[in-house]
Amino acid sequence: MCGIVGYVGHEEAVPILIEGLRRLEYRGYDSAGVAVLQGKKIEVRRSVGKLANLEKSLRERGLTGEAGIGHTRWATHGKPSEANAHPHRSGPCVLVHNGIIENYLALRQQLQKDGYEFESETDTEVVAHLISSHLKKGLRLVEAVRVATSEIRGSYAIAALSETEPDKMVVARSGCPLVIGQHKGASFVASDVMAMLTHTRDVTYLEEGDIAVVTKSSVEVMLADGKPVTRPVSQVTWDADAAEKSGYPHFMLKEIHEQPQTILDTLRGRYSFETGEADVPDVTMTKEQFARAGKIWIVACGTSWHAGLVGKYLFEEMIRVPVQVDIGSEFRYRDPLVEKDDLFITISQSGETADTLAAAREAKRRGARVLSIVNVVGSTLARESDDVLYTHCGPEIGVASTKAFTGQLTALYLLALHLGRMRNTITAEEGKAWLERFVMLPALVRRVLGREAELVSMAKRYHTKRNFLYLGRGINYPIALEGALKLKEISYIHAEGYAAGEMKHGPIALIDKDMPVVVMAPRDRLYEKTVSNLMEVKARGAPVIAFVTEGERELGKAADSVFTVPDVPAVLTPILFTVALQLLAYHVAVLRGCDVDKPRNLAKSVTVE
Ligand code: G6P
Repeated sequence: MCGIVGYVGHEEAVPILIEGLRRLEYRGYDSAGVAVLQGKKIEVRRSVGKLANLEKSLRERGLTGEAGIGHTRWATHGKPSEANAHPHRSGPCVLVHNGIIENYLALRQQLQKDGYEFESETDTEVVAHLISSHLKKGLRLVEAVRVATSEIRGSYAIAALSETEPDKMVVARSGCPLVIGQHKGASFVASDVMAMLTHTRDVTYLEEGDIAVVTKSSVEVMLADGKPVTRPVSQVTWDADAAEKSGYPHFMLKEIHEQPQTILDTLRGRYSFETGEADVPDVTMTKEQFARAGKIWIVACGTSWHAGLVGKYLFEEMIRVPVQVDIGSEFRYRDPLVEKDDLFITISQSGETADTLAAAREAKRRGARVLSIVNVVGSTLARESDDVLYTHCGPEIGVASTKAFTGQLTALYLLALHLGRMRNTITAEEGKAWLERFVMLPALVRRVLGREAELVSMAKRYHTKRNFLYLGRGINYPIALEGALKLKEISYIHAEGYAAGEMKHGPIALIDKDMPVVVMAPRDRLYEKTVSNLMEVKARGAPVIAFVTEGERELGKAADSVFTVPDVPAVLTPILFTVALQLLAYHVAVLRGCDVDKPRNLAKSVTVE
């Protein structure tokens, strides 16, 4: 996903911009560029591919200057190419943009009629020309940006520089995040706070529709109509080192191993053994308000959607309320039967996923109460929700989500307990019993991680296969989906997750000796049924990889490979199986020589639909 950085100060801009872009690399991108005010002229350098290519071009033709903007682009309109990379120039103005301009075709035609020539296929160039056309009429840069943003429809975070006003950057946001930081006579701009953490931790998040004029010593924020507005300065508490690999070969492996800590951090201080309740003060919904909710909705995308599916099983068991789970992109274009006072839960690591955000806005419009489980503090979803339950996982850099997912499951356990106590479907005694199990999770996950070597051997045995099937039942059906997603995301092996009982309605046709079948078979009430499904697989010659709970014997004999997790109540098994499946996917991908942290075509945060 695209990333924006900007700098105005007393130091050379290029190294600062490149360092900022490097910190945004984890978001996924296919080209990059910078523009720097050199003397009175703005010079642009752009290249396709990794940042190293841009750095090479900057070494060949240096750029000096103390104000500049930079961008990593993840193609939406037009292929990855130098011409389509940002910054885009029009007259004296250069611009970087995240998001999508929906009415760009109409604007492009109008601008072409007015004599503007387009060098790229992007929607962004339209905005550059619009701003430039307003500068030509004598408007100041801020006014030109303000008028231009009133003419575009869609989502954007932009940063613009102009040769006509060399001492400033003008930035604006609507639908995409933008943050401004200041430190010792210098100002920084970025689409993600991570880009500026080595320079400052005092930051201002722009709100929807805000425009800001940023100089080395000042930040003036205004609303879309030009009225000045004050936005608070917040302190970022986690440091940039949290974003380093700490000796692990990949961020993903580091993040997998951080899970005992991140689960603990998500639980920490949020329960009371005395009352058997979850203590989640950010969820301000009252008992009466929840009593009015006829239904619980859970909407999310990708891995977060899998967490939502686990949530359904948890909530229906612990709260006894109907739960509907939807994918964000499906929900937003239906006419969903959301009723006033329904509880609408969204789950998102980034808090910026366009489809999830749109679903939350739609639900709010229909009178539902929106509660979001989010990892990124201050993200748009967090700010727009009635209630927020943060997962305290720290920044997740690996594109394939790992610790954020188990953090989401942990938050869902807490929420299920909280809501169950509100509805009296869980007594204080039962609440205490649940809590006792939850707090054991970090230690149990550590035990799974301690047996990584077994998963490395398993990966060695199967990494050359081209297709995998993942099966699970009940609360572990979503874990089969997540296990398959993890494998396909980072190893590019085709993998499908299926409800074990549904296997004979189709996928069984694919099964042969070259298709390993991974199955989750905890000793729960569905165990016998899962074993029968496996025997069907076995009879067709497929290698069976069984993930079971301690004490299991039958499958141990029948399966080709077995991995055992601690024996815990069924509702807790998803986290333990997940951690093992993450490690399996990781080691398969490494053995296949894949770029684990930045898988091809994927983006960390999908802020366009
Ligand atoms: C992208 C990421 C996934 C993530 C999904 C939803 O597709 O690659 O890992 O699960 O977006 O992201 P969110 O930030 O809303 O959880």
